[in-house]
Amino acid sequence: MSSITTRAAIAREAHKGWELVDLQLDDPKEHEVRVKFAASGLCHSDDHITQGDAPVRMPVVGGHEGAGIVESVGPNVTRVKPGDRIVCSYIPACGACRPCSTGHQNMCVKGLNAGTGMFLDGTFRFHLGDEDLGGFCTVGSFSQYAVISEWAAIPLADGIPWEVACLVGCGVPTGWGSAVNAAGVRAGDTVVIFGSGGVGSNAVQGARYAGAKNVVVVDPVEFKRDMATSVFGATHAFASAKEAHEFVVETTWGQLADHAILTPGVVTEEMVNAAIQMTGKGGKVTITGVGKLTEKAAHFHAGALIGYQRQVRGALFGDCNPLFDVPRLLRLYQDGQLKLDELVTRTYKLDEVNEAYQDLADGKNIRGVILHE
Ligand SMILES: NC(=O)c1ccc[n+]([C@@H]2O[C@H](COP(=O)([O-])OP(=O)(O)OC[C@H]3O[C@@H](n4cnc5c(N)ncnc54)[C@H](O)[C@@H]3O)[C@@H](O)[C@H]2O)c1
Ligand SMILES: [Zn+2]
Ligand SMILES: [Zn+2]
Repeated sequence: MSSITTRAAIAREAHKGWELVDLQLDDPKEHEVRVKFAASGLCHSDDHITQGDAPVRMPVVGGHEGAGIVESVGPNVTRVKPGDRIVCSYIPACGACRPCSTGHQNMCVKGLNAGTGMFLDGTFRFHLGDEDLGGFCTVGSFSQYAVISEWAAIPLADGIPWEVACLVGCGVPTGWGSAVNAAGVRAGDTVVIFGSGGVGSNAVQGARYAGAKNVVVVDPVEFKRDMATSVFGATHAFASAKEAHEFVVETTWGQLADHAILTPGVVTEEMVNAAIQMTGKGGKVTITGVGKLTEKAAHFHAGALIGYQRQVRGALFGDCNPLFDVPRLLRLYQDGQLKLDELVTRTYKLDEVNEAYQDLADGKNIRGVILHE
């Protein structure tokens, strides 16, 4: 079998950051395509890997928000052809399995190996000497090239800038869909969004577009609050849950919020409890952000749900159907109704990936994006 060399950022163990290496990358096999990445978003989920909070097989090639050009295809690929522009859906969408055929492409069975990057035939495409490596979410966009499943390839229209296109592979639909699909925000609602970063900024936009009266952001970072209110459509922003709670009590005449949506970098028990307390009768808490592996994020009395008939539920990929939602969101962007350029605070080279994650931790970026050379 022939292979190519690709420069990539890998994580070998927790708390050691990203290591830049040259890997060997196999040719694509049946139903697989090899992508030359143009851009990769720096989602917080990759940071969970290096912080030891993502249960992934190591070493792993980072990156799951990728966009690029199909370089070659394996046998029996029908969705795309060499030269096509694509967005990588971080969960594949085969269109035919039980979840896909019932409108839940975000739970496609082909996404089974997200945490290992192993392909469904039990093998890996990245190699470093004798070592096999998977790409995070079987993508691995912190690499110049990767092999992905054809089911993860979403055709991309011309005219969409690469740094925007890659974000529609995770952060944009995850955030937007958390509000519009998973929560089901309705006209006139009061919605509280915890964490207005790369995902949360899109939850803000989704909630506003769905007609929420109050879109209230909680974020400790002033820059994020400013962006939320001045750019993405939040009506109010507070540094703490306590301040937001007081405002919600006042503005709803004590009825409390219809929705709390949790999109912070790390979900904590304190935050879940604050979110439950902030939602009123029939209210709903939607959890999109990930917590620490070593801590439980939910611990509350049954009565906190029963008395007010509150719901708490998780959301994966914002309940989106990538084959439907990715083009739809990009059309909204092209029509000026969804702000995506504004998500990209700064672009980086692949070799600057550790600096980029430091900038995220320092609160400097809504999204950093790697532009591949
Ligand atoms: N469920 C999914 O499908 C899915 C997909 C993508 C990302 N995620 C997860 O969503 C979360 C958000 O990802 P992101 O890329 O937007 O991260 P991010 O770092 O860009 O944004 C997180 C935001 O939370 C804010 N924050 C920090 N502490 C806070 C607190 N105590 N209260 C409120 N806000 C606080 C930060 O200032 C930041 O603005 C991560 O946990 C990520 O792993 C989940
Ligand atoms: Zn992501
Ligand atoms: Zn499927």
